[in-house]
Amino acid sequence: MGVTRTHVMITDSQRFMSALVKMVTACGVLSFLHPLMLPLLILAVLPAGAGAVMTARVDYQIHYANVSDRNVRHMTRWWATTPKFADEVRANGMTSYLLFWYRSLSERIDRRTLAAAPRTLRIALAAALLGGVFLSGTWAGLAWLAVTGRVPLAVAATAIVAVQTALAALSQVVINGAAVFHTSLYLTDMETFLNDAAARAPRRGRHEITAPVEEIRLDQVTYRYPGKERPAVEGVSLTLRRGEVIAVVGENGSGKSTLTRLITGIYLADKGRVLWNGHDLASVDPDSVWSCTGLVPQIFAQWPLRVRENVTLGQPRTHDDVPVWEAVDAVGMREAVEELPRGLDTLLAREVFGGAELSGGQWQRLACSRALYRRPPLLILDEPTSQMDARGERDIFSRIKGIAADRITIVVTHQLENTRVADRIIVMENGRITEQGHYDELSHGGGLFAELLALSKDR
Ligand SMILES: Nc1ncnc2c1ncn2[C@@H]1O[C@H](COP(=O)(O)OP(=O)(O)OP(=O)(O)O)[C@@H](O)[C@H]1O
Ligand SMILES: [Mg+2]
Repeated sequence: MGVTRTHVMITDSQRFMSALVKMVTACGVLSFLHPLMLPLLILAVLPAGAGAVMTARVDYQIHYANVSDRNVRHMTRWWATTPKFADEVRANGMTSYLLFWYRSLSERIDRRTLAAAPRTLRIALAAALLGGVFLSGTWAGLAWLAVTGRVPLAVAATAIVAVQTALAALSQVVINGAAVFHTSLYLTDMETFLNDAAARAPRRGRHEITAPVEEIRLDQVTYRYPGKERPAVEGVSLTLRRGEVIAVVGENGSGKSTLTRLITGIYLADKGRVLWNGHDLASVDPDSVWSCTGLVPQIFAQWPLRVRENVTLGQPRTHDDVPVWEAVDAVGMREAVEELPRGLDTLLAREVFGGAELSGGQWQRLACSRALYRRPPLLILDEPTSQMDARGERDIFSRIKGIAADRITIVVTHQLENTRVADRIIVMENGRITEQGHYDELSHGGGLFAELLALSKDR
């Protein structure tokens, strides 16, 4: 609200200032005609001012009471209407559930808003009544001054014009002043939020990481998510060197994705250190780290942009399609892209006129090509082939192996056969590394890896 209201605040302030100038001029004339007129007139608009401020407060309170319901309603609307989940919503009979909540939330919001109406009306009525009484007093005062000859008739006539002008300007001052006050309530919230966010944000240094990244070392790294009792990653020590391909395996929730976030400095360790070329990530400018990183996260974005931007996003704009096609080739997508109505220029947003849609595995290939296009010193792929066919999977892994010499490569995977390409496999259990070694060692090691491998073959 703070953000969306800021531009309204500027307009309101402009109107407030212009009304203020008008009011000062008109009131100057009025006080010159007779000193009694001005205090009377101010009394006449004061109740309206007080009323407007009180109404703004009520409005803000109602907004506050409704804000979480509004947010949930907004989410419900998105889940109910986004084409991405339309199949699931329809085929699993979720429409009535979503509609039920949309209706219930709307009714609750309406009820709260209506419940506040009598309060707003009472304030408006009291302000109008009081203002009316004082205004009548002003006109009566002016009539009394004229009738008793305290001011000449010509001056009284001028005073009528001045009173009307001053009244209009005063009302504008009050209305716009209250609007500025209303917005200031939201801006105060925004300031509190920003200060809070700044206080929580980890302090980072300014050292710049530059390619090549020869070594990444984790030294007793521990990280616990806020509100969680147990750390997601605990006491992990690890050294990664340029040219190595490391596979990370382990059961769901064992901390693999969290480890990738710690290595890339998306999160800073609670305890221990992550060192890039010997520099602690806590003392490093994160942008310099991320310019050396290519990441395919487990849940990746399907950008509603053209194919080309889906490959190049995050890199400087290019007019040269050769490297884009190289990245597309690397994930075996050339044929699929060429079949699209406008090749690299095809908009990948089904909800927009002229947009096309890819299959799940094709999207995943595109996410991989995005990371490969960056030619990063650190390449991390978190379950990159979970939706791919066997050919796609083989292509990606042989490609990863082919370009591994220049970089550090980390692949998280549940397909244990894929870990054959890795120079080293790291097995995670409950946030800790419990085994390390090559495929041949671990598959006969009698540990979790061997157990998971046996399970994957025992179908
Ligand atoms: N954003 C988050 N906020 C709070 N807890 C989280 C968050 N992400 C993960 N966790 C918790 O941290 C633990 C490790 O999660 P993580 O995603 O690292 O596991 P994972 O090994 O990648 O699992 P998977 O194989 O399912 O991808 C889990 O217990 C999970 O509940
Ligand atoms: Mg994960």
